[in-house]
Amino acid sequence: MTTLHVNGRAYQVTVEDDTPLLWVLRDTLGLTGTKYGCGIAQCGACTVMIDGTATRSCQVPVDSVGSADIRTIDAIEEDPVGRKVVEAWVAAQVPQCGYCQSGQVMAATALLKQTPHPTDGDIADAMTNLCRCGTYNRIAAAVRQAAG
Ligand code: FES
Ligand code: FES
Repeated sequence: MTTLHVNGRAYQVTVEDDTPLLWVLRDTLGLTGTKYGCGIAQCGACTVMIDGTATRSCQVPVDSVGSADIRTIDAIEEDPVGRKVVEAWVAAQVPQCGYCQSGQVMAATALLKQTPHPTDGDIADAMTNLCRCGTYNRIAAAVRQAAG
């Protein structure tokens, strides 16, 4: 039995210790906003925040998380910074197919929580998630807008 702290709630789960956090979130807890893309920590579709840091959950064994604070896209608008990011995403009409976007929003939220007024370089360094639709310019614009 493992206790996970997700979006401000404690969940008890019974899974193998090395199960990737992504699958526990999606399959065990039903939090399907976090997406599976590559499974090898390359694309960022599975990004969540763990103790405020953008983390690719497909490569995080669930037994390594401990009592850390996990935040997912499913509750991102409960976070004031997350809400601003979502509002900027909508205003800038960032998504195209949308598949990568929950991970992008999580990466942007983590950036702005740590660096409220990022430079273009900070944005480029932080926003490394892949988007097969090529929405990168709108992503950067939305991050700048959310930063105010
Ligand atoms: S699914 Fe985790 S980085 Fe691609
Ligand atoms: S919006 Fe389609 S993959 Fe990014």
